[in-house]
Amino acid sequence: MESYKELLKQNKEWASRMLETNPEFFQELADTQNPEFLWIGCSDSRVPANEVTGTKPGAIFVHRNIANIVLHADVNLFSVLEYAVKHLKVKHVIVCGHYGCGGVNAAMSNNDFDQVLNMWLRAIKDVYRHNREELDQIESKELRAMRLVELNVKEQSLKLCKTSVIQKAWQERQAPQIHGWVYGLKDGILKEVISIKPDFSVIDPIYVFDKVK
Ligand code: CO
Repeated sequence: MESYKELLKQNKEWASRMLETNPEFFQELADTQNPEFLWIGCSDSRVPANEVTGTKPGAIFVHRNIANIVLHADVNLFSVLEYAVKHLKVKHVIVCGHYGCGGVNAAMSNNDFDQVLNMWLRAIKDVYRHNREELDQIESKELRAMRLVELNVKEQSLKLCKTSVIQKAWQERQAPQIHGWVYGLKDGILKEVISIKPDFSVIDPIYVFDKVK
């Protein structure tokens, strides 16, 4: 059987298994979604949001890109963020990176990946530059990359706080909390790197919008 047909076959099996545990499962979800979480993760095939958190369809609104970057001019990410925060009113936004991230490793190198990828990875190079003092002291390249993964998640989490979407929600409903996590490919465990409760003092004043504060 061709591999893609295998997926369709497995889908039918999965759907019937879901119905065995709850005959109303799909019917209940069909009308509306009410996820409590927004997940901004890496596109890496090994870090699927639902599987690693033991959740089912309906639990997590998801955006994924290479190396889980929050780029302030990314229309795709911001439409997801605005919809999740303003309309779905998620309580938590999780930025999830992972050790062994190809995007982070690529950004640590001086390889030319052609313009589009160079442009994308630039955001991680900036994180490296801002933390050069700490990172350059780590001799092992592997450990340095692991630390950069953590620092990247922290930086992208803080970037979310600089957006008017998050600031308005903080003002209006004292949510969502922002969480930075790193997933271990070798052990399947999620590690908390940063957790930010609604608090304007975490944001440098130049990024705080006067309309919301
Ligand atoms: Co990755």
